[in-house]
Amino acid sequence: MPVMVASENGRRGIEAAMTFLREGGSALDAVELACRIVEDDPDDHSVGYGGLPNVLGEVELDASIMDGATLRAGAVAAVQGYGRAITLARKVMEETPHVLVVARGAERLAAELGESPQDQRTEEALQRWRERFGERGLTPGVTENLHSVARILTQPLNLQDKIYKAARVDTLGTVNFIALDGQGNLASAVSTSGLGWKYPGRVGDSPLIGAGNYCDNRYGAAACTGMGELAIRAATARSLVLYLKCGLSLVEAGRETLRDLLALDAAEGQYMNIVTLTPAGEHAGFSTVPGKQYLFQCAEMDEPQLADRLMLE
Ligand code: GLY
Repeated sequence: MPVMVASENGRRGIEAAMTFLREGGSALDAVELACRIVEDDPDDHSVGYGGLPNVLGEVELDASIMDGATLRAGAVAAVQGYGRAITLARKVMEETPHVLVVARGAERLAAELGESPQDQRTEEALQRWRERFGERGLTPGVTENLHSVARILTQPLNLQDKIYKAARVDTLGTVNFIALDGQGNLASAVSTSGLGWKYPGRVGDSPLIGAGNYCDNRYGAAACTGMGELAIRAATARSLVLYLKCGLSLVEAGRETLRDLLALDAAEGQYMNIVTLTPAGEHAGFSTVPGKQYLFQCAEMDEPQLADRLMLE
């Protein structure tokens, strides 16, 4: 019965979590475990420790978790100094009456729970930031106008390449996990360092329940990667689950969600991906752009497999 889906960068997490699910573990514990493995990986520059910094060179993390059995959810945003954002999100869900706690409040909660602060910047991530903004970072004078630097993120990619001579890196990464456990419960988790070079305090879709993450045992779950502003504006994860509730098939629900996203005036290079899983174990991935894949693993499979994400026909 257990099934998991993940974004393409979730391979190590999904493998460990599937072993745990096979032994009778819960979907909620499985998605947290899977996320933590990616958050701890310094080579994943889109999540947790080693994530790409904001325009000031600071790493700010966002995450959310949702329990499909109870519709309870927890999230943190713009957290500095604590790498396991997904566990903090779960603490918000289980140990506070809130859903979303941000920045100083989330860092305070981490400290109260006995976590020790640790710089989340790896030398490699900082080097990428320096390559883009100069050896000493932002030049004096620019720091008063950070919004003009961040606005370049919405320019076409060829124009960005002319402005910054540095090698282009994918600034849109995030990790998604959705699990269905042996008891028939669904849970979903999303974690990210957010859009690389973002304006300080910018929050994307990942910690926003309904935008980047939604999970309901009755109909299914959906989670997003890509340009978070698009999923916020289209309420993407909740929309897909609502289309399922309205009786659409999984493929029709995903395609309807893509229609909503494609109605937005996204700049070139901005895309949105969705993974989804139903209580019956049916899964799919969707994308607004070609060539994207997702991972899935059923209990009887030795390892996760990649599958193509569907687009609008
Ligand atoms: N999807 C992650 C973000 O936009 O922050």
